[in-house]
Amino acid sequence: MTAAVRADLTNLDHFANGFPQDLFARLRREAPVRWHEPTEHTPKGTGFWSVHTYAESREILLDPAVFSSAQGTVLFDHPWAGYMMNMMDNPRHARLRRLVSGGFTPRMVDRLEDELRRRTETLIDAAVEMGQCDLVEAVTSELPLQAICMLMGIPQQDRHLLSERVHHVFDVKDGSTAGGSAAAATESLLQYGREIVAERRRNPQDDLLSVITHAHLPDEDPSHLLEPEIDAFFQLLFGAGADATRSAASWALVAMAADPTILDTVAGDPSVLTTLPDEAVRMMSPVAHNVRTATRDYELAGHRISAGDRVVYWLASANRDEAVFRDPQRCDVRREPNPHLGFAQGPHFCLGASLARLELQVILRQFAARVERIELTGDIEWTRSNKYNGINRIPAALTSRRTRSAPRAGRPAGVRGAGRRAGRCPAGDRPQ
Ligand code: HEM
Repeated sequence: MTAAVRADLTNLDHFANGFPQDLFARLRREAPVRWHEPTEHTPKGTGFWSVHTYAESREILLDPAVFSSAQGTVLFDHPWAGYMMNMMDNPRHARLRRLVSGGFTPRMVDRLEDELRRRTETLIDAAVEMGQCDLVEAVTSELPLQAICMLMGIPQQDRHLLSERVHHVFDVKDGSTAGGSAAAATESLLQYGREIVAERRRNPQDDLLSVITHAHLPDEDPSHLLEPEIDAFFQLLFGAGADATRSAASWALVAMAADPTILDTVAGDPSVLTTLPDEAVRMMSPVAHNVRTATRDYELAGHRISAGDRVVYWLASANRDEAVFRDPQRCDVRREPNPHLGFAQGPHFCLGASLARLELQVILRQFAARVERIELTGDIEWTRSNKYNGINRIPAALTSRRTRSAPRAGRPAGVRGAGRRAGRCPAGDRPQ
């Protein structure tokens, strides 16, 4: 057994400087699927199956009857398992998804676009004005946060407070739930969510919270969302909405710093924005792994998985699988097709994918229109996590474009209606 095959994938030292792609390239070659022995970070002293390749990850995603989400999608026991929509199986999951998907239609997302662009211009202008800044703080964390508040109908002045509380609740960076402060954060988040939901019940607005609160499907039983489902959904949206998009956008800006031709390409031919956001999601894979639990014995790539076994599939590795992607370690801004698994596939395909793609397009477009060069002025700081690939800090100096003649409102041909195009999975939810 080689060192790669023996590597402890729950040891976060491997992930301190970003996802260890070299290690996973060896795992794809030497052990596409392997049994991972228990470690101090695995609950109840149980090990898990570790799946490193694209075909097997996709096989898991597309077979929810065998690979259940209801016991949670993290390695430890999650308090919301069974209540949060990403941690449920059908028929309950399908019912919940039908109830809330009205809030994520391409029409709803497209409506945000002008406002998102205006806000992005303001953020980037301020960053350019400063000359030197942390791009995560100045741009990539701020826009997704503002966007999710707009979509949900949450007052913008509450966004930082809420995002701090969500981080406490979702803090799985060390492989376990956050300590004592998590309970207090959960409680105050629940309280906030319940108050605003009660308000929307009395006074519906044109926002996602009102859609969820008033969702009614006469043929379903019950025909509305249950209280714990609304509570959990409120928390999921904040975590999912703010963090993952920030990671993909941060990765794209670091790529633009390393290779200024990407900036120039976007500035000169913004139609590249029909493919670049998905390539950023493939390369970064903000959700590094997910977890399912086998409901029955199953054979995967010649291995016998037993009912009750936990299965970890690494999206960040599947998205660099040489068997599927040509030159997988290279950022190809025009990669097409790009059947990456960054937004998953199957029944849990990311509900926010349209919004995430739109945000990425707006950020990259406005960046390229205003900034000629990004120069890193220090080391970027990676999130030390094997669950979420993230960048916490990008210290950079920006050189403004001398002529700011880029059209303010000009979405490039082929980019308008991105939400509409993005409403489907790039590879489709279907097997290919
Ligand atoms: C680049 C950004 C994003 C990435 C990479 C991403 C990734 C994912 C992935 C991999 C899943 C599947 C989870 C599973 O199979 O267990 C998922 C589900 C989900 N995402 Fe995203 N996401 C992003 C942005 C967003 C945004 C902006 C929102 C909301 C505004 C959102 C809302 C959701 C929801 C509600 C689900 C659960 C869907 C279900 O279980 O049916 N995501 N996302």
